[in-house]
Amino acid sequence: MSISDHILEVSRIEAQEKLDSEKSHAERNRLGQFATPSALASDMLTLIKSELPKNFKIRFLDPAFGTGAFYSALLSTFHESRIESASGIEIDPHYANHALELWKGSSLSLQISDFFDAKLPAKDKPNLIVCNPPYVRHHHLSSERKGKLQKHVATAAMTKLNGLAGLYCYFLLYAHAWLEEGGYACWLIPSEFLDVNYGAEVKDYLLSKVTLLHIHRFDAASVQFDDALVSSSILWFRKSAPPVNHTVEFSFGGSLTKPEILRTVPASRLRQTAKWNRAALSGTMAKEETKVRLGDLFEIKRGLATGANDFFILSSEEIQEHHLPEEFLIPILPSPHYLKQEIIEADKRSNLIIDQQLFLLSCSFPESEVKSRYPHLWDYYKTGLERKIHEKYICSHRSPWYTQEFRAPAPFLCTYMGRNGGKRESPFRFILNYSKAVAANVYLMIYPKPALSKFIKESPDSVQKIWEALNAISADSLLSEGRVYGGGLHKLEPKELANASAEKMVQKILKLAEYQKFQEYDLFDNVRTPELLRERLRPVRRKK
Ligand SMILES: C[S@@+](CC[C@H](N)C(=O)[O-])C[C@H]1O[C@@H](n2cnc3c(N)ncnc32)[C@H](O)[C@@H]1O
Repeated sequence: MSISDHILEVSRIEAQEKLDSEKSHAERNRLGQFATPSALASDMLTLIKSELPKNFKIRFLDPAFGTGAFYSALLSTFHESRIESASGIEIDPHYANHALELWKGSSLSLQISDFFDAKLPAKDKPNLIVCNPPYVRHHHLSSERKGKLQKHVATAAMTKLNGLAGLYCYFLLYAHAWLEEGGYACWLIPSEFLDVNYGAEVKDYLLSKVTLLHIHRFDAASVQFDDALVSSSILWFRKSAPPVNHTVEFSFGGSLTKPEILRTVPASRLRQTAKWNRAALSGTMAKEETKVRLGDLFEIKRGLATGANDFFILSSEEIQEHHLPEEFLIPILPSPHYLKQEIIEADKRSNLIIDQQLFLLSCSFPESEVKSRYPHLWDYYKTGLERKIHEKYICSHRSPWYTQEFRAPAPFLCTYMGRNGGKRESPFRFILNYSKAVAANVYLMIYPKPALSKFIKESPDSVQKIWEALNAISADSLLSEGRVYGGGLHKLEPKELANASAEKMVQKILKLAEYQKFQEYDLFDNVRTPELLRERLRPVRRKK
């Protein structure tokens, strides 16, 4: 970077900070105004330089220009002889006017306009688009706006985007019309599209309308934008039909120029895989499709949603203080944060043996009966009425408002949320529960289906082995099913856990069961489980 480029970049960063501080966070959220860190913009242009053909003359466009982080990086990365033209579009005069002032000595042509209203050049279209589009979630787009955006995308890329797609998806697909055939695009976008349903059309676009060259996924734990908690990815592609047997580079973690993991994945395999995150995280996507899933062996449910944990979940001291009747108290696990044990032991009455004893208060008798037969309980419920607990969403939809859903205790549980890092390899913990305790919705409750249940009943030792097998499910295969949020927070919904591979577990269970014994069991309640697979998993008959 020359000294003058450096000085310009320093004053651009200062201006960016000042302009940002003049707006409220809500205002910036509305237009997705979170600038690209200077070092990242520079990394992206360095990558672009290494990928572009040597004699490629650039016609640059950033359709969400801001103050011009990418334009600045372009100028300091490429010799001016390589830049034929440069243009930008920015909707907000607050940033655009300042950018016009800042770049007035350069050849930049900047339009103050909505990208979707800006005039498409009739000739000499841009051949390099570099953009960090506004990240605005779909529910902040009015239906009128969505309708207009849908039309633009339909014309530009012949694609109908899912109604749940965020503004960045519309930017990406609409820019297709702006990019010259054979031109390149580099996008910094949220990683969400890799996994969620609304990303299907974006992925289809990337595989069929352009040649997808590289996807880099930043580690969600090292969030790129401090003020907008999203995990982000870089897309690099060329506007040309993909060649036969095309392969895509996936990289993950570290920096764009020095990723921690780099893999090549055939486009044909991406086409068969709904969740691309898996490729970025581990490359396990390249493995054979899983045939037996946890959902074949277990019923998985979210724990109880009480409607007001601080009212319905009570400690022994609180129970004593309010003289609450024992018959309405069900032991319940504390939140994972307070649960130190991995195995929940029970006393002779199957009650929890842990430090923090908690109970769920659940009574389904009508108010008149509670009033007459259980005056102390009614006194407690009156405190709930005073606190308007009965008006809370879940309680107001139950009758009586203080009753709770029935849930049998589950022998296995899994934490619903977790962060990477720390001592544990996986952000999720599996708990073995020998007690009668139920769990709130910060856990997933895992119930063996009838056939497995029968097997466990007849060989009680297997419970511990099954729990070990659950814990042995690799972090990768769990993570590729769950969702990753900013800051490295992972969530696992019941369906996602049900989708994780159970092949290794089945093999472990089968090893456990002696052959003779096993013949009496059919571990799969799922009648659709292919006969062939059962054969494959069945141990070879031992010669007598
Ligand atoms: C994520 S920021 C990126 C800014 C800059 N390119 C950078 O990388 O730092 C997105 C920018 O797009 C602008 N923007 C939002 N909606 C737009 C639209 N419909 N058309 C053009 N620009 C838009 C915002 O004002 C904001 O400056």
